[in-house]
Amino acid sequence: MSNWKLLRLTKQLKDHFEMSSPKQQTLFPDLYEDKTSLPKPVNVASVPQRSPFRYPGGKTWFVPVFRDWLRNHYPKPEILIEPFVGGGIISLTALFENLVSHVVMVEIDEDIAAVWQSVVDGHAEWLAKKILDFDLNKKTVIHEISKTDVSTKEKAFQTILKNRTFHGGILAEGSGFLKHGENGKGIHSRWYPATLSKRFENLKLVADRIKFRQEDGLNVIREYSHRDDVVFFIDPPYTAGGKKAGKRLYRHFDLDHERLFAIFETVKGDFLMTYDNADEVKTMARKHGFQMRLVPMKNTHHATMKELVIGKDLKWMDRHPAVHEPVAEYKPTSMRKKVTTRRCT
Ligand SMILES: C[S@@+](CC[C@H](N)C(=O)[O-])C[C@H]1O[C@@H](n2cnc3c(N)ncnc32)[C@H](O)[C@@H]1O
Repeated sequence: MSNWKLLRLTKQLKDHFEMSSPKQQTLFPDLYEDKTSLPKPVNVASVPQRSPFRYPGGKTWFVPVFRDWLRNHYPKPEILIEPFVGGGIISLTALFENLVSHVVMVEIDEDIAAVWQSVVDGHAEWLAKKILDFDLNKKTVIHEISKTDVSTKEKAFQTILKNRTFHGGILAEGSGFLKHGENGKGIHSRWYPATLSKRFENLKLVADRIKFRQEDGLNVIREYSHRDDVVFFIDPPYTAGGKKAGKRLYRHFDLDHERLFAIFETVKGDFLMTYDNADEVKTMARKHGFQMRLVPMKNTHHATMKELVIGKDLKWMDRHPAVHEPVAEYKPTSMRKKVTTRRCT
């Protein structure tokens, strides 16, 4: 081929690719308005709320980042494992948005477990109707939640009632009824029967793609550790280094965090962990050779905070102006090359 022909062909190819390649989009449009300002937390109102729970420590604010992770994941994972599922917004997002085929949801708390088990067992419709028919006041709630020797679906209803009428949705010991709630509406302030009922109706659509297990999440992680077609989303109680927050929020807060990190050194599939921005956690992540990034969020008091995201390879998160970890060179105990993380500002 002559030089001239070659030149023309190269130009045609170049034009073709320039026209057909999509415009580069901001990875985190919800998080960041522009590259010069500080990162903004996600407006949770923009995320479809699919969980019937109002969950303490819920990860609705993390949904846009989670979506980006899975949408750009290659190869597309078959199964998402969520070993500390709580209110389940991440698993439900993955199902409703077809980011995976199936999810394995794991929760050790028997009250929460009753809700997910009932959905999987085909009782979502029953719960939807029960919610619509319930005449809620303090007396009826006390009567309902005092019942003992109940079936799983009745326990699920008790859980939803407590979650919706107790302060902060907290089911752990010491929690009590909402006193003032929204606009002084007391225990009614988080009881939206039509909305809640609809959420259960919708759960019917994905129930057959959920495997639910009430057990220790660590066991389930180990069970799937050899599979490279699964991904894990890990949101444990924030109790590393004896932190108090997680203890107040959950009945089951005691977790061997060091063991969790050690298990993930052996896991074949990809994973994302969210954690509080605590020194103990960063030390463990460095020790085990994982990468970290910080993501802004708003806590229940509307203060902007940063939470840690931990994973094997978080380079995909660098397309937004997130703040990073300080440069640190370290040698984990295992045979691993030196890893450099970047600066938190
Ligand atoms: C931070 S919350 C998860 C919140 C969830 N990501 C959401 O968006 O609703 C942690 C959950 O882990 C559960 N948990 C604690 N220890 C566990 C264990 N060993 N195995 C399984 N679940 C556990 C707690 O009961 C709690 O529901």
